[in-house]
Amino acid sequence: METVSAPARLEAFAHRDGLLHCERVPVTDLVARWGTPLYVYSAGAIRERFAELDEALAPVPHMIAYSVKANGNLSVLRTLAAMGAGADIVSGGELHRAMLAGIPPERIVFSGVGKTIHELAAALQAGIYAFNVESEGELCALSDLACTMGMRAPVALRVNPGIDSPTPHAYTRTGHAATKFGIPAERARDLYCIAAKLPGIRVRGVDVHIGSQILSVEPYLRALEHVTDLALDLRREGIELEYVDLGGGLGISYEGGEGLSARDFAEQIVPRVQESGLRLLVEPGRYIVGAAGVLLTRVLYIKEGGGKRFVITDAGMNDLLRPSHYAGWHAVEPVVASGRARGQVDVVGPICETGDFLALDRDMEIPRPGELLAIHTVGAYGFSMSSQYNQRPRPAEVMVDGDTATLARRRETLDDLVAAETGI
Ligand SMILES: Cc1ncc(COP(=O)(O)O)c(C=O)c1O
Repeated sequence: METVSAPARLEAFAHRDGLLHCERVPVTDLVARWGTPLYVYSAGAIRERFAELDEALAPVPHMIAYSVKANGNLSVLRTLAAMGAGADIVSGGELHRAMLAGIPPERIVFSGVGKTIHELAAALQAGIYAFNVESEGELCALSDLACTMGMRAPVALRVNPGIDSPTPHAYTRTGHAATKFGIPAERARDLYCIAAKLPGIRVRGVDVHIGSQILSVEPYLRALEHVTDLALDLRREGIELEYVDLGGGLGISYEGGEGLSARDFAEQIVPRVQESGLRLLVEPGRYIVGAAGVLLTRVLYIKEGGGKRFVITDAGMNDLLRPSHYAGWHAVEPVVASGRARGQVDVVGPICETGDFLALDRDMEIPRPGELLAIHTVGAYGFSMSSQYNQRPRPAEVMVDGDTATLARRRETLDDLVAAETGI
C-alpha cells in the first residue's frame, strides 16, 4: 500500500549555521536594514496555518473570519485576503483596515461589546456579513439606525453559554457567567424573539466566543451544543438561523509544541455542525499568526544586583505587552548562537515600570551588550498591543516571504509622536 506522508512543515524561524533565519533570510540582514526593535513575520507560516484550518473545515460550509485584533498589519491582512479569509473586527478602525486590505465586506463580522453609532453606521454602509450583537441596547440601537438608513442589519446574538473555559489567564476568559461579554444564556431566547420582530434587524446566526488560548476541544463542544440546542429551539419558534459562529481562541504552543491542532478541532466539531445543518464561522487570530512572528531586540546592558542578573534590551513592554499584562511566556534566544555559559536572567526593557519585562528567571546563554535576541511567538497580540508609552516610537514590521523581505510598517519617528497634537 502506498503511504502518503504529510507535507513537511515550513520552519519559519530556525537557526542555520548558528544564525537565526526567517524562512530563507538571515534576520541579521533585516536588522542591518531596519534596526531594532523589529517585528518580523513569515508570510509562509501565515499561509500554512490558514490553509491547515481551512482544509480541516472543508467538509462543512464555513468561513474563517481572521480576528484582526491579533495583528492588523495590512501586509498580514492582504496575505490572508488572498487566501480567501474573512475578518472578525471590533472597531471602525479595524473595518477600515480590513477593507483597505481587500477583505470583501460580505466576509466581515463585527464583534465587540461597545460599538458606537458611527461604527455601526460605517459597517452597515459597507454591507458586512453580520453584527455580533452583545446587548439588548445595541440590538435596538442597530435596528433604529438601520431603519433610518433604509436597511436591515444582519445579526447574530453573541450568547454567553456560562462556560468557564480553562485559559491561562483570567483576562482571556470570556464565556463564564460574570463577564461583560455576550448575552446571558437565560436571556438569549427572548432576545431572539424580540430581534425577529424588530424592523431594522435580519436575524442570521448565533455567535459564541468563550475565551482565548484554549488548548482542548471540549469547551468548544460544550459551547457548540449550547448554541445548536438554542438554534433548534428557535426553529420551533419559527426563527430560522443560517450559521453558528464559534468565535476564536484556538490555542497555540508558546514552547514550540503543537497546541490545539486544526485536525483534532475539526474532527470533533465538524460532524456536530453537519448535524445542525448550519454553516460554520470561526474567528481565530492567535492560531493563524501567533507563531509567525518574532521580535528582534538588541541587548543594551547587563546588570547584576540583589541576586539577579538583568539583561536590559531596547524592546520594552510598550513594544510587547503580553508578558506584563497577561503573564505571557515567550521563548527568548540569542540570534547568533554563542555557545557561551548559560545562566539565569531576567530580560527587561528600558521603561520606567517594574512590570516592564519580557522574560523572568530564564535559563539562557548569557548574552553580551550589543548582541541580538529573538523573542518568539509574538505574531499575535504583539505589535497590535504596542504603544508609545515613555514616548518611544513603535518598532518597524517586516514581512518575509521565501528569500524576500519587505518593510510592512516603517519605524515611527519622533515627529510621529507629536504629529496629532496641536501645541507644536
Ligand atoms: C470575539 C472574539 N473573537 C475572536 C477573538 C480572537 O481570539 P484568538 O486570537 O485567541 O483566536 C477574540 C479575542 O479576544 C474575540 O474577543
